[in-house]
Amino acid sequence: MKGNFPIDKWNGVQTPFYFYDMALLKKTLEAIKKETEQYGFCQHYAIKANANPRILQEIASYGFGADCVSGGEVQAALDAGFPADKIVFAGVGKADWEINLALKADIFCFNVESIPELHIINELAAAQNKTARVEFRVNPNVDAHTHAKITTGLSENKFGINLSQIAGVLKEAQSLANIEVVGLHFHIGSQITDMSAFKDLCIKANELQSDLEAQGFTFANMNFGGGLGIDYHHPNHINIPDFANYFAVFNQLVERREGQALHFELGRAVVGQCGSLISRVLYVKEGEVKKFAILDAGFTELIRPAMYDAYHRIENLSSNLAEQTYDVVGPICESSDVFGKDVPLNEVRRGDLIALRSAGAYGEVMSSMYNLRQLPKAYFSDSIE
Ligand code: LLP
Repeated sequence: MKGNFPIDKWNGVQTPFYFYDMALLKKTLEAIKKETEQYGFCQHYAIKANANPRILQEIASYGFGADCVSGGEVQAALDAGFPADKIVFAGVGKADWEINLALKADIFCFNVESIPELHIINELAAAQNKTARVEFRVNPNVDAHTHAKITTGLSENKFGINLSQIAGVLKEAQSLANIEVVGLHFHIGSQITDMSAFKDLCIKANELQSDLEAQGFTFANMNFGGGLGIDYHHPNHINIPDFANYFAVFNQLVERREGQALHFELGRAVVGQCGSLISRVLYVKEGEVKKFAILDAGFTELIRPAMYDAYHRIENLSSNLAEQTYDVVGPICESSDVFGKDVPLNEVRRGDLIALRSAGAYGEVMSSMYNLRQLPKAYFSDSIE
């Protein structure tokens, strides 16, 4: 064992692979359950963060719902045991087959992002002789103060319906026979660590709700999306996000109407810290000015550093030698295939096991076969393999 890693079991195991600390996942799920239950909030796990079937089954067993963004995710949620009446389905571009699959399964609701989409859902629901429940995704124009590529709640983003257009859309929905409006939906971005962004969201949602009520619209559900960030710098010390503070913000600030349900769709905060990408060092290359630790994992297994300049803590699990500084890189034929520059690591030798931490969210699920590489396997702390 080194830390929570059973490295003695990994001799001869093919790398790279994902390793999930299931005890940590359970602790995280318990923390969410405790906070949401005390306020009667509904949590729908955002499947996009990690769709590994074992992880999904574990999360479903805690009674959470699921937030899906594709037909594939709706199917994966159903297969893992998430109840259909706790599944929500978002996304700006839902294809007809995806809408049909969700209608057939009788999911809780569609989070609708445009009028053309609303009309198609109405038509397809009519063809199945059903009424589709919908929430409208509102673009509240709130700055999430996060990476530009994961900000979604600004007017310039493709997501949601702008504040000025929402009343018109609600009127349009009233004229459609196979649509039932059940709420409003918001999501402002991801990896948000500044609570003031969520506070702004609550205030905007309150204003909007009062405004729309004055025009005769009421909502049984308000969905505030996901977005709570994790501490990528301290995965060993701060491995459970501050859910108490996060949910308390919404409990204090949202002007919740009698009988109204509040929904959340956390993804990263649920699974981020329980997963690590485990890789072996292939070569240590001494350059003129740099030393490179060349791993057998690349951006094909973890794309976040290349795509978002994301930081992941890197640890040498095999060495207790004095620290040296390395650029940690992968084998992919692209210069963006770098996990970290000037990373302090216990002296690295060929064959050492390297952990890329906090990779449970948007890690395995975003892996690709580029360069005709194999998709990584996953191992779990509580299974024998
Ligand atoms: N709900 C909606 C409508 C979303 O679009 C997302 C994430 C979530 C919930 C979950 O957000 P979370 O709690 O995980 O922040 N691949 C990027 C993150 C993209 C997030 C997209 N939407 C990354 O690796 O940082």
